[in-house]
Amino acid sequence: MNVLILGSGGREHTFAWKIAQSKKLKNLFIAPGNAGTSDFGTNLDINVSEFDKIKKAVLKNNIKIVIVGPEVPLVEGIHDFFLADSELKSVNVIGPEKYAAQLEGSKEFAKKFMKKHAIPTAEYESFTKESLEKGYRFLESLNPPFVLKADGLAAGKGVVILSDIQEAKDELKDMLANEKFGQASSKVVIEEFLDGIEMSCFILTDGKNYVNFPNAKDYKRIGEGDVGLNTGGMGAISPVPFANELFLAKIEEQVIKRTVDGLQKDGIPYKGFIFFGIIKVGDEPKVIEYNCRMGDPETEVVIPRIKSDFLELLIATSNRTLADYKMIIEERSATTVMLVSGGYPEAYEKNKKISGITALDDSLIFHAGTKVNATDEIVTNGGRVLAITSYGENFKDALKKSYQNISKIDFEGMNYRKDIGFDL
Ligand code: AMP
Ligand code: GLY
Repeated sequence: MNVLILGSGGREHTFAWKIAQSKKLKNLFIAPGNAGTSDFGTNLDINVSEFDKIKKAVLKNNIKIVIVGPEVPLVEGIHDFFLADSELKSVNVIGPEKYAAQLEGSKEFAKKFMKKHAIPTAEYESFTKESLEKGYRFLESLNPPFVLKADGLAAGKGVVILSDIQEAKDELKDMLANEKFGQASSKVVIEEFLDGIEMSCFILTDGKNYVNFPNAKDYKRIGEGDVGLNTGGMGAISPVPFANELFLAKIEEQVIKRTVDGLQKDGIPYKGFIFFGIIKVGDEPKVIEYNCRMGDPETEVVIPRIKSDFLELLIATSNRTLADYKMIIEERSATTVMLVSGGYPEAYEKNKKISGITALDDSLIFHAGTKVNATDEIVTNGGRVLAITSYGENFKDALKKSYQNISKIDFEGMNYRKDIGFDL
């Protein structure tokens, strides 16, 4: 079977690495991919939002399954585009249709869905420019800190948490009246602040049944000790040590089952991944957010812990036969540490030559932002550059290997967090 992966990050390199191991695979394509994905398939010079070019590539290469990495093409309706096209209709897309992708694409949609299906989450209200004054009154009724969320996609920057009431009001005005995040903040969700430790759970669902993936915890802040600006993610570990059986059973009953059942009850088809951002408040799980895709860098630890044939799993999702699927999970822990460009997540330079990546011992390397330049060298091509994943008996053993291997890698300005897992 021929498969196309859409995306260009560490998540997509990990998918490519895993799918390339499948006996069912004939040819693998990645659009646009990176310097790492080309080890496992053919990179196509197509952007994830260029639906017409994607169509041509799918037909030309006889592709039967398209796995959508990032959220943007899903929210833009790539699955609907395939369903509406007579030549593409029979191609299976892993990733929800536009309506269901609102679980990630609209905070208000997600909150309403959770309320309706009794899925535990923070109390909230939503506001528009017209109800700005009501928003101020609502903020006054809450205890600090104040959580303000732009309704739409804002490249991970749309959530602002402030402890000062006046700053919170100014921020609300900035988002609504001054359109700080453009259309994405034409609506703002104000939420009760939840105090606890965060983790992520993942499923793959065919809309009726689902399989649980290993859970993970990621480290979003740039600075050690979880300080400084938010990034796409600086590292991850799997499994999460504090997520014991009892807590995971609560997540399964109160969050995962209610979500999949809720989609069915509401008549919303869904074939794809669901990422549950969970916060543990006391001993209870609450949902912070949904994503309609896998996380990055969580994928770089979650997928390596799946022993089952990943393409078989995608085929079972397409055929809606996940009910019969038995997942085999690697017992060992996995960790990943992200190497980033100097200056990231603010301005940074690209095209820095990367050395040492062939010298790794007992670690996996997933490219996040790399490319091959005109003189055939691998150079940096993004803020997040490489993810170094290792296995171990526990996350500390695994981390030790990642850090040992990182010492062999170099590029100008390279930065990484030396404290992944520090809080566990
Ligand atoms: P989100 O994009 O909704 O995942 O939010 C980004 C981050 O903001 C989360 O990973 C949390 O760390 C934090 N956050 C979001 N909502 C809340 C909340 N209600 N209480 C506390 N922290 C939150
Ligand atoms: N690592 C968080 C995300 O993928 O959104």
